[in-house]
Amino acid sequence: MISVIIQVATLILLLFFFEFFVVQAYNIVFRGYAPFLATKSVVLRRLLSELKINKDAVVYELGAGRAGLLRMLRKQYPNAKLTGVEYSFFPWLIGKFQNAITNSKIKLLKENIFKIGLKGADAVYCYLNVDTMIKLEEKFANELREGARVISYQFPLPTKKAERTIDLGEEGKIYFYQY
Ligand SMILES: C[S@@+](CC[C@H](N)C(=O)[O-])C[C@H]1O[C@@H](n2cnc3c(N)ncnc32)[C@H](O)[C@@H]1O
Repeated sequence: MISVIIQVATLILLLFFFEFFVVQAYNIVFRGYAPFLATKSVVLRRLLSELKINKDAVVYELGAGRAGLLRMLRKQYPNAKLTGVEYSFFPWLIGKFQNAITNSKIKLLKENIFKIGLKGADAVYCYLNVDTMIKLEEKFANELREGARVISYQFPLPTKKAERTIDLGEEGKIYFYQY
């Protein structure tokens, strides 16, 4: 019995490993997707102090990973509508698990960010890569309402002028855009 449990557990671990490393590697190399790297908490704290939103604002984290920014926002803005979008199974599952144990109402969608409509968004946070920001610039221009904000960590939009940039020295830059 114990050996069966060990075999099943090993199989599950191998599937996680395959999903996380092999699928991610394929998407990074062949589709130009950003890898999974969490925004550091020092950067999240700075973002939180700079990002003033309405108490019922609609906020998306595109390529959410474990949705670090949304988790911080949840504490300060309990009535905000917070949605994270993440295609990769493993980070999405960890986020769902964190939601379950903290009884969080953050919505976590396991989906490609380009399949999500952003018409209702008040603010969008991204920590992605150069290629994805090039594609997102067009999506933002087509979908975001006037007044919506985009905050991008490390990777600016290619042509839109940032309203404000915060230089965090070794920790990189945060770009703020207003539509
Ligand atoms: C650099 S990480 C940032 C994670 C999180 N936003 C944070 O700041 O901690 C980028 C994440 O975006 C996800 N991602 C990349 N391309 C994506 C796409 N097209 N659709 C959904 N998620 C994507 C990756 O799987 C990865 O978890």
